[in-house]
Amino acid sequence: MNLPKIHSISKKICVALLGGFLLIFLLFHASANLLVLRHDDGAWYSAFCHFMGTNYIVKVFEVVLFGFIALHICFTAWLWLTNRMARPVRYHVAGKSKTHPGSKLMMWTGILIFVCLLVHFTDFYFVKLGWVKGEYMAKVEKLQQIEALQTLQLSSQFDMTPEEFVDELESRATELSAMEGDSAETARYIAQLRDGLDVYNILQRAYDEGNVTEDGVWIRHLTYDERQLLRDVAPEADPEPDFYFMVREKFSHLHMVLLYLLFFAIVWIHMRHAFPSAFQTLGLSNYKYYNVIDLLGKLYAWVVCLMFAAVVILVFLGL
Ligand code: HEM
Repeated sequence: MNLPKIHSISKKICVALLGGFLLIFLLFHASANLLVLRHDDGAWYSAFCHFMGTNYIVKVFEVVLFGFIALHICFTAWLWLTNRMARPVRYHVAGKSKTHPGSKLMMWTGILIFVCLLVHFTDFYFVKLGWVKGEYMAKVEKLQQIEALQTLQLSSQFDMTPEEFVDELESRATELSAMEGDSAETARYIAQLRDGLDVYNILQRAYDEGNVTEDGVWIRHLTYDERQLLRDVAPEADPEPDFYFMVREKFSHLHMVLLYLLFFAIVWIHMRHAFPSAFQTLGLSNYKYYNVIDLLGKLYAWVVCLMFAAVVILVFLGL
């Protein structure tokens, strides 16, 4: 097979730079997750997720992040393939290779992390994309701004429920059309009110069932179908995944806690080796400082993985 010729060290530098970026992302992600531990009914974590889900700079960052993950995987596979092609005959004596045992683990832990990430995305990220169904929340303020809702509120002045009000308007459609002079316009107006009625009922149910967050900002426990409905009827109130609730729900199950702890252990092994390795490739390490950088790598991996683990364990314990 003919692979494009890029010097091995250039590929290693790319892997190191991309990996370095991912190491920083993990510290950021683990720190942000700690917000789940606040006992504020998700106020801070939901506000954070809302910012992350709506800010345009973050959206660009997300594309860059996925691009970097893909490139990191491609360059590593390419490096592995070229190394293998350079030595088609394997060593006969096991252990003869001078490769650090950690670097052999890198390939396997990398593959396992990829598999775990697919599970992780199915749990959370794909819900945001609408590929997997989850639980959603919407901002009360945005829903209340919907024009039709303000019209429906007039129903109380006529001692009618909003349903009766729209039915009444519909029965008087001919009269209304005569006033407006445009029957198509009247039909559109009534259709708008019917859509508004759906939003009204969603809001009403949320209040009746106590599905409003403590700070009164969000209504939660919206279903996938309600999300679709709101997306069509009230795009400005586009509901988003309720990650706070989903994280708390997911880690109330022991098997999910154990699965994720295994995931963090694999991430720890991968990071622990990646850190000093990246320093070495970028020429930032030498014989004198190797031990210090190696220790820093271990510490960094422990801090990040313990932060991830703390969320999962404390949520499971209901703390
Ligand atoms: C306690 C552990 C973790 C929790 C509770 C958690 C939670 C989440 C949530 C809720 C999202 C969706 C955020 C959004 O799209 O707005 C997400 C996305 C993501 N997670 Fe995690 N995560 C954890 C651990 C990890 C680990 C260990 C990795 C990587 C090794 C990871 C990598 C990612 C990536 C790459 C994304 C997509 C980018 C993003 O949207 O930020 N996560 N995670």
